[in-house]
Amino acid sequence: MRFGDLQRTTIVITGVTRGLGRAMVDEFVRLGHIVSGCGRTKSEIERLVQLYPEHDFQVVDVASHLQVRAWAEHLIEKHGAPRLVLNNAAVLNAKAPLWEVSDQDFSNEIEVNIKGVVNVIRHFAPSMIGRRRGVIINFCSRWAVDVEKLMGPYCATKWAVIALTRVLAQELQEHGVAVIGLNPGIVQTAMLKRYLSGNGAAEMSDYLTPNEWAAIAVPFILRLSLKDTGKLRHVLAPPTYSTCTRTRERSYL
Ligand SMILES: NC(=O)c1ccc[n+]([C@@H]2O[C@H](COP(=O)([O-])OP(=O)(O)OC[C@H]3O[C@@H](n4cnc5c(N)ncnc54)[C@H](OP(=O)(O)O)[C@@H]3O)[C@@H](O)[C@H]2O)c1
Repeated sequence: MRFGDLQRTTIVITGVTRGLGRAMVDEFVRLGHIVSGCGRTKSEIERLVQLYPEHDFQVVDVASHLQVRAWAEHLIEKHGAPRLVLNNAAVLNAKAPLWEVSDQDFSNEIEVNIKGVVNVIRHFAPSMIGRRRGVIINFCSRWAVDVEKLMGPYCATKWAVIALTRVLAQELQEHGVAVIGLNPGIVQTAMLKRYLSGNGAAEMSDYLTPNEWAAIAVPFILRLSLKDTGKLRHVLAPPTYSTCTRTRERSYL
């Protein structure tokens, strides 16, 4: 059974305060699903709580094993095992050659982009194993399979996420739970702005807005299933990728 076939799917999303996560919230809610999300920006989480009181939004730092554990216990008690877990939260380093990246900046990227993903898996996967169902989607990038100079920490963390995705897919296959890497393509978010800074802000408008992207991505995500486990799937991959940007193809984040 595909997840899109279900009337109300329980969905957990990390990083819902802006960007792709925020746009996915609107689209999943619009389609009638039950959404639980987290992020660190309290004001944005409060705004979501007001906007969607029947859903569940909390201030959680995914880099904190203890905060993720408490969040998972609360959600599993309230809704049971999630059907879909979206490991979307991530950070992007300021462009720099590797020798100029500070210890703190490198550690922060590992804490959020790698350990954050693992914290969520550690605390949600057992309930999904128990129900023998569910899909875990780890947000990757072109830079989960490619590299770009000055982007060392981000590339390293996304390569790690794809490796963990493939390992976990093997571990969970016998339990009926799928684990899939997702390359969203390029979308006009704060992360893209950070990447393009210095290249001219006007380029932002070449790409889909988060809401335009979510209208394509959410139905795509809801169709993913065990047949996709261990794979890297592309929301805006060629040949459709170029038609989904406004003007031209560029490299991916
Ligand atoms: N935009 C693109 O073109 C693009 C391309 C390829 C891949 N991606 C991937 O797509 C995903 C979403 O990217 P985006 O462009 O939407 O980024 P974004 O606009 O920077 O949003 C990132 C989200 O993650 C949250 N977050 C960051 N650190 C967190 C933490 N420690 N705990 C909880 N939440 C945290 C942020 O919220 P707070 O700051 O409030 O915590 C925010 O809601 C990322 O995995 C990114 O690598 C994006």
